[in-house]
Amino acid sequence: MTRRHPWAALAAGALACGLALPAAAGPETALGTAGCTACHAQDKKLVGPAWKDISAKYKGQDGAATALAQKVRAGGKGVWGPIPMPPNPAAKIGDADLAAAVGWILQQ
Ligand code: HEC
Repeated sequence: MTRRHPWAALAAGALACGLALPAAAGPETALGTAGCTACHAQDKKLVGPAWKDISAKYKGQDGAATALAQKVRAGGKGVWGPIPMPPNPAAKIGDADLAAAVGWILQQ
C-alpha cells in the first residue's frame, strides 16, 4: 500500500494558497508611521474627519481613491471645514503606501 492519501494533495494545495502572506507593514501601520493618526481617528473627528466619515462620503465613487491620494499628497481645505490638511510629501508616505492607505480608508 504505497498510494498516498488523497487528502494529502488537498492539504498541500491549501498550504500553497496560505503562502500568499500580507505585506509586513499594513496600511494601518503606514497611517500611524506617516503621522496621519495625529489628526485622524477611526470613528471620531479629531483635527481631520474620521476615516469612517471619509469612507461614507466617497466609497464606491469612480476615481475617489486617486483624487483622495492627490489631496493627501498636496494638502488642502474646504471639503470638511476651514481647517487645512498640510501637504504629506513622499518622504512621509510613499506612493504605494499612500495608495494602500487610501484604499484602506475607503473600506472603513
Ligand atoms: C495636521 C493634521 C492632518 C494630518 C497630519 C493629516 N490630515 Fe488628512 N485631513 C486633515 C483635515 C483638517 C482634513 C479636512 C480637509 C478639508 O476640509 O478639505 C483632512 C482630510 C483628509 C481626507 C479627506 C479629503 C477630502 O477631500 O475629503 C483624507 C482621505 C485624509 N485627510 C487622509 C490623510 C492621510 C492618509 C494622512 C497621512 C498621510 C493625513 N490625512 C494626514 C488633517 C490632517
